[in-house]
Amino acid sequence: MLEKFIVTIDGTSSTGKSTIAKRIARKLSYTYIDSGAMYRALTFFCLEQKIISKSFFKKDVLLKKLNNIKIDFKKNPKNNILEINLNGAFVEDKIRTIMVSDFVSILAKLDDVRTFMVKIQHSLGEKKGVVMDGRDIGTVVFPNAEYKFFLEASPKLRAERRFNELKKNNNKVSYEDVYNNIISRDTHDINRLNSPLKMASDSIFIDTESLDLDEVENIILNHITS
Ligand code: CDP
Repeated sequence: MLEKFIVTIDGTSSTGKSTIAKRIARKLSYTYIDSGAMYRALTFFCLEQKIISKSFFKKDVLLKKLNNIKIDFKKNPKNNILEINLNGAFVEDKIRTIMVSDFVSILAKLDDVRTFMVKIQHSLGEKKGVVMDGRDIGTVVFPNAEYKFFLEASPKLRAERRFNELKKNNNKVSYEDVYNNIISRDTHDINRLNSPLKMASDSIFIDTESLDLDEVENIILNHITS
């Protein structure tokens, strides 16, 4: 039987991680796992349940409910794609809003939340043959992964990419809001105490500033298949 690997793709927001991770998974016939979608789904839950807002955060309520929340990836019968599932509902089309983006890094700092997510991520990677993208996948979740990549680009370019993507999906948001959100999330993600965003020492760094998606994909595939 062909040996299967774990491939991790970490980096700051909007560096193309998820698009690239999806492409690599398809090429290798691996499963793609978007760890950010898990944190986004939890944030969506907290907003819906009025656990968090601009004026309050009922942390105790979240911690009490946490172990009864079901976050998973399931094949959506509508498109046959493995999608994020929150308590039995497909929420992919609800978790990319700027509202969710504004709160996600606050929740992602919490020790209990990270422990909860990492446990699910470990089970998803148990059989290998997985491409997982996020912030701490090569450092904390799968420190022994066979292939690790870290993507970067300037905040300006990343904000442009994310703004165009949101606009395409009919999200009414300004470039400034997207830029500020990216800077704010980077700051939270890099400076948090638990599993901060940083490059694993054995990760391959790819500056995507002047590379298109095909070029990034080729660099990664060359490393894995050579
Ligand atoms: O798509 P984008 O890169 O903007 O973000 P994402 O991957 O959807 O992740 C949203 C947020 O979840 C990040 O800004 C982090 O705060 C958090 N996250 C994390 O803490 N650890 C991960 N492995 C993945 C995401």
